Amino acid sequence: MKIAVLGTGTVGTALAGGLSAAGHDVKVGSRTAGEGKVTFAEAAEFGELAFNCTAGAGALDAVGSAAAELEGKVLVDVSNPLEFHDDGPPTLFVANDDSLGERIQRALPGARVVKALNTMNADVMVNPSLVPGDHVAFVCGDDDAAKTTVTGLLGELGWPAGRVIDLGGISAARGTEAYLLIWLRLMGAMGGAHFNIAVQR
Ligand SMILES: NC(=O)c1ccc[n+]([C@@H]2O[C@H](COP(=O)([O-])OP(=O)(O)OC[C@H]3O[C@@H](n4cnc5c(N)ncnc54)[C@H](OP(=O)(O)O)[C@@H]3O)[C@@H](O)[C@H]2O)c1
Repeated sequence: MKIAVLGTGTVGTALAGGLSAAGHDVKVGSRTAGEGKVTFAEAAEFGELAFNCTAGAGALDAVGSAAAELEGKVLVDVSNPLEFHDDGPPTLFVANDDSLGERIQRALPGARVVKALNTMNADVMVNPSLVPGDHVAFVCGDDDAAKTTVTGLLGELGWPAGRVIDLGGISAARGTEAYLLIWLRLMGAMGGAHFNIAVQR
């Protein structure tokens, strides 16, 4: 599949590598083209499906600059609404009764937004075996067919369907984004980022 990866940071680099290794044709989008990168809009135009891997504070600008090109396409939103501070850990700039995933879906009503993979470190996204056990990935979004497509792609990255939990509509992004408040503390407590959620019942 032709896939756009919007974002050149740790996540964009990891997902571009993992998706390419799985046999997909990937174009990486950035604010400025050059050095193997194209603009967000050019990447989105190329992709049949796109991943948003941009900084939370810039995500609406990034996907907004490619709104026309993302029309009708699945947009996998991996971003988190983190606001960084000189003193103290990051906070969320949207939470409780709204989320960045919902803001992106409202800003791009023609795109089929699926929130996924934002609850884990980039290495784990593309190499789940870095963490032992049946730990999970979440998807949420308003378009069931889009979630099925994304679950299939996750399978190619090493996440069997039985370890992908569908949390419902895009408003469930409120929960997966707010989890970052715990994730950030866990990273400190665990002394690293290679951990993930396993759900037992
Ligand atoms: N790092 C992780 O392991 C991890 C895990 C889960 C979720 N996330 C989330 O995934 C996203 C990407 O994280 P990251 O660590 O890979 O890198 P990042 O530094 O958060 O984001 C880098 C990307 O954001 C773009 N960007 C930054 N400011 C922008 C703005 N004002 N307008 C438009 N685009 C802007 C950059 O564009 P240029 O290419 O032009 O520089 C770059 O492509 C974030 O939302 C993060 O919270 C990260």
